[in-house]
Amino acid sequence: MRNFFLGNAITVLMVIVLTSCAATHQQGHTLSQGAVSPGAVSQQYFGTLPNGETVTQYVMRNANGMEVSIITFGGIITSLKVPDKNGVIGDVVLGYDSLQPYVDDQYYLGALIGRYGNRIGGATFTLDGKSYSLDANDGKNHLHGGYQGFNKKNWHATAFQKGKTLGVKMQLLSKDGDQKYPGNLTVEVVYTLTDDNVLDIAYQAITDAPTVVNLTQHSYFNLATSGTILDHELTIPAANITPVDKSLIPTGDLLPVAGSPFDFTSPVAIGARIEHEHPQLHYGLGYDHNFILDKSAPSALELGARLTDPSSGRVLEIFTEEPAIQFYSGNFLDGTKMGKSGTLNYRTGLCLEPQHSPDSPNLPDFPSTVLRPGEVYSTKMSYRFSTL
Ligand code: GLA
Repeated sequence: MRNFFLGNAITVLMVIVLTSCAATHQQGHTLSQGAVSPGAVSQQYFGTLPNGETVTQYVMRNANGMEVSIITFGGIITSLKVPDKNGVIGDVVLGYDSLQPYVDDQYYLGALIGRYGNRIGGATFTLDGKSYSLDANDGKNHLHGGYQGFNKKNWHATAFQKGKTLGVKMQLLSKDGDQKYPGNLTVEVVYTLTDDNVLDIAYQAITDAPTVVNLTQHSYFNLATSGTILDHELTIPAANITPVDKSLIPTGDLLPVAGSPFDFTSPVAIGARIEHEHPQLHYGLGYDHNFILDKSAPSALELGARLTDPSSGRVLEIFTEEPAIQFYSGNFLDGTKMGKSGTLNYRTGLCLEPQHSPDSPNLPDFPSTVLRPGEVYSTKMSYRFSTL
């Protein structure tokens, strides 16, 4: 969603905030060190990057014991603990328990993604008649913002509390030419946790030159906290996907899901049809597709996906202002990496990434991802947890 009139005021505000706080990585109220009590935000040292910068972890815990841990490196959600149907708290996201594996990570575990989430075909796009060549970090294509995308940046963070709402504000300046993108892009992402067991994620960005922006969050969910996600039941209110070629670049068409393994308009177990002979499942090595959401208005905050785990009774509903959502069934998790609770095996986590469609800069029929000076990029998504 692009909004012109707000632009100037927010431009000034965000630049002042960023320049005044650039040096430090921690500020704010109600911060405590170490263990976190309900209704508070704590912070602790998480590690030191090869460049000497400190990475801090913020932990928010609400009155029901729901707990979210976020680090300044990549704005990564390192753990997300929610109750099951018996009130037992469990961690429903994949992750690591120290910094170095995140520095080396190739799965984008739990990270904020940008400047452009998902793929750009041929690692190039043209904007206002000027062609831009980006890193080809996924075969001949560009993926998730490049080698040093937002998932590899050490964000500036500030914790806050408004009444019972807890929050961590993440800020980043992605300079002109960062990962070969045009424009100084100032980004703010605010995580807030409420006592309704809702984690909201609000994104804003401004630029001083025309550029493209498509931000998302790359958490891998497993509501059962272990095993594969194949018994999870999924609903996606989408009558169409954007079919892809062998390198996962959209062809530019729409493919109706009715009667196919991509029809999640009513709840279906993920494993029920994942081995189906459908060519798109072959290209994706399973599910790895962009679903076009059926919404009352393109940027209304509406349901993007509903995920349930029959065994634990946990439910996750993702609401989003984005027009589409990428469903990725964890096909590249290959058991070669050790996570915080065991080996990161094949399909032990899934991603539901609200977004504008992949390769939109090269597909003019798709909703635009161009951001111009004076406009504000702003989008919101929320993870709403409950039980069956
Ligand atoms: C997204 C892509 C997948 C894969 C993962 C990261 O979900 O759609 O193809 O690249 O990111 O591993």
